[in-house]
Amino acid sequence: MAQQQDILDNLSTGVIALDAGLRVTSINAAAQALMESSAGRIESQHASLLSSEPDELIDTLNHVLEARAPVARRGMALQLHTGQTIHLDLFATPILLSGEVDTLLLELQPVDRLQRISREEGMQQAQETTRAVIRGLAHEIKNPLGGVRGAAQLLAKELPDNDLAEYTRVIIREADRLRDLVDRLLGPHHQLQLADLNIHEILEHVRNLISAESGGEVTITRDYDPSLPDLPGDRVQLIQVVLNIMRNAMQAADSPADCSICLRTRAQRQFTIGAQRHRLVCRIDITDNGPGIPEELQQSIFVPMVTGRADGTGLGLSIAQSIINRHGGLLESQSEPGCTRFTIYLPME
Ligand SMILES: Nc1ncnc2c1ncn2[C@@H]1O[C@H](COP(=O)(O)OP(=O)(O)OP(=O)(O)O)[C@@H](O)[C@H]1O
Ligand SMILES: [Mg+2]
Repeated sequence: MAQQQDILDNLSTGVIALDAGLRVTSINAAAQALMESSAGRIESQHASLLSSEPDELIDTLNHVLEARAPVARRGMALQLHTGQTIHLDLFATPILLSGEVDTLLLELQPVDRLQRISREEGMQQAQETTRAVIRGLAHEIKNPLGGVRGAAQLLAKELPDNDLAEYTRVIIREADRLRDLVDRLLGPHHQLQLADLNIHEILEHVRNLISAESGGEVTITRDYDPSLPDLPGDRVQLIQVVLNIMRNAMQAADSPADCSICLRTRAQRQFTIGAQRHRLVCRIDITDNGPGIPEELQQSIFVPMVTGRADGTGLGLSIAQSIINRHGGLLESQSEPGCTRFTIYLPME
């Protein structure tokens, strides 16, 4: 028989038990993930420490203690100490012992997440369709392009006049530029080469690349969970993902010296991606302090060819998302001026 704590930790609902003095006596894995904290930090703390603005929560709990009756609060906003606000359905049930409240049981269901999952599935479907159309188009462009380039090369050899050679050089150069664009439109076409990877080795690799690209001017801080086990992934393609995201952060900043990026890794238990629930996923947050994603682009940054930059092709995030999806993972973003965060979830099993 599984132990009680094992059973609790395998629930996808967050569960917190409080004593009559509103101190936390137990918290399961799903609630720890929701609160972005650990049992060690939360247990034996007062419930008011669960949020940086705990008034609404505490009022609700006091009401349950007084009325000695269960209460449900739908869509309650809870401001976490990380600065993030989550929305939950909260069910608080008093457990009575000889007529007195002995334990207060809290069940927490994140509403955002459930709504987001269905929205994400629809959006991913639509983006896969767009990608398929673009890939088809790219193929059609690529074939004649080889012919144009080859013909220009032959022509260059036959030209009697060296002055005219400049025209064939333009044709060849522009054909090459178009070929590079088309290659990026086609995206990574190889099968995933899965191997056991240390995610920190990948992050460190990209950190060095970005440092070198910016002449060491970008500030990159790290908050790694060293206990994270290896995960199955394609090293080259995951490097591409992190590089695309970090480059965007650097390009969004006024200057590299103003740009500060934080790389954070955590293990997250009981996490749903699409229709699949995972016992354990690796969560990677890439957060920058830049101006934020323009409001009008926020819903569409993962769509191919959507860009907010004059010289952007709008492919970086589309490619990144496609790679993460092929790993069975999820890439999401949230942005406001001064804080833009891209979060990658990768299954560990
Ligand atoms: N960290 C960020 N801060 C602010 N805006 C961002 C950030 N990341 C992405 N964006 C916005 O999202 C747009 C799309 O990004 P994406 O990487 O897909 O394309 P791109 O950077 O424009 O072009 P490419 O990556 O193909 O060179 C960017 O043009 C930018 O407007
Ligand atoms: Mg980009």
